[in-house]
Parts: sequence; structure tokens; C-alpha cells
Amino acid sequence: MTTQTEPLQIAVLLSGNGTSLESLFERIDTGEIDAQIAVVIASREDAFGLERARKRGVPAIAVPRRAYSNTKDFNQALHDELAKYPVQLVALLGFMCLFEMRPAYEGRTINVHPALIPAFCGKGYYGERVHQAVLDKGVRLTGATVHFVDAEYDHGPIILQEALHVLEEDTVESLASRVQALERELVARSIQLFARGRLEIIGQRVRILPPPDAAKS
Ligand code: GAR
Repeated sequence: MTTQTEPLQIAVLLSGNGTSLESLFERIDTGEIDAQIAVVIASREDAFGLERARKRGVPAIAVPRRAYSNTKDFNQALHDELAKYPVQLVALLGFMCLFEMRPAYEGRTINVHPALIPAFCGKGYYGERVHQAVLDKGVRLTGATVHFVDAEYDHGPIILQEALHVLEEDTVESLASRVQALERELVARSIQLFARGRLEIIGQRVRILPPPDAAKS
């Protein structure tokens, strides 16, 4: 375990609007998170998240999934770009493609999912589809999950996870809005815990270590 003194260097991977990225920028600005976004990579050229990064002078790169005939070639291009930056954490914030894990990023890649993993997750469950599935199934609870990434979609040791109630009057939009607010909190807390060296992976579980000061007393 290492304790970070310099701001943690993060690569954000996304596919769309990038409201999660925006929230991260804002929380870094206020000092809530000791980190810096080193690069933003999108799987679509028209991802608005790229604009958000450019506006802040952060390198913004498109590696369009549709330009590659298979996941392997796409990931090779993605990793070629990623390797150009001294990144300590990769954050998948609305990244709708499979991230092929490489040894350098094991235990250093997190994903946020808008449901309570292992429910409503995996291939095909992304964005609004997740909330539609939650409403269709009639479950009373949903939530958000931040987890370390392994070789599978929406899989790997869970860092933080919180539930919220599905209301009678909920629509996909209202549910998405509440879940996304929760996601942003959990992403911020997870990244700050990672930056402080307070996350220990033990098999499929993550242990949250006490803050260094608490350990001394
Ligand atoms: C977020 O709600 C995120 O959890 C979800 O996409 C949204 C991205 O919004 N990700 C997934 O569904 C991945 N399985 P944004 O582009 O505005 O940040």
C-alpha cells in the first residue's frame, strides 16, 4: 500500500455526455478529491465528454469503437493511447465498451454502474436500459455500485455500493437522475479512498482501511 502525496493521475474513459466527468472535475476543483485528470478517452468521436475535457485543457482523445471490427483491435488502440500518459487510476465513467484488462491496470481500474451489482448488470445493461429493466422487473430497491474492474462486464471487487427506493411514480428519467446523484457521491468517495491508499483487495472483497491518523492512535 502506498500513500499518495502528489495528486492521483486519472484517465477517464467514457462514451457519452460525461456528466460524471463534469462532477469529478468540480470535486477536484473544490479539493474534495486529491487528483488530476491526465487524459479523457472516448469510444465515440461525438461524445460530449470530450468537449468537457477540452474546455479544461485536458487531453481529449477519441478511439471510436466503430472504427475497429473487434474488441481486441479496439482495445489495442485504446491501450496504445492510454500508455502515453502516466496514469495511476483508470476510471470508467459511462464507458459502454469492454475494457480489456492489462497487468499494469489491475487493481487500478474502477467502473461505476447504475444498479446494485450483481443485479441488472453485464452485457447489454447500460445507461437508461438499466433503469428500464429495474422498472419492468418491479424491484423496490436499486442503487449504484463502484467496483474494481476485472475481465468481465460490470464485474470485480465492489468498493462502494448504496441502495435507494424505487418510487411508485418513478420513470426512467427520474430514477436515472437519483441514481446518478448517488453514483457521483460514490465515485468521489471511492477515488479519494484509492488516492489515500485505503483500499485493499482481498479476493473478491475490498477492505476499506482506516485513515492513517486513526491507525496511529
Ligand atoms: C452513468 O449513469 C453510468 O453509470 C452509466 O452511464 C451513465 C453515463 O452518464 N454507465 C453504465 O451504464 C455502464 N454499465 P454520463 O456520460 O453523463 O457520465
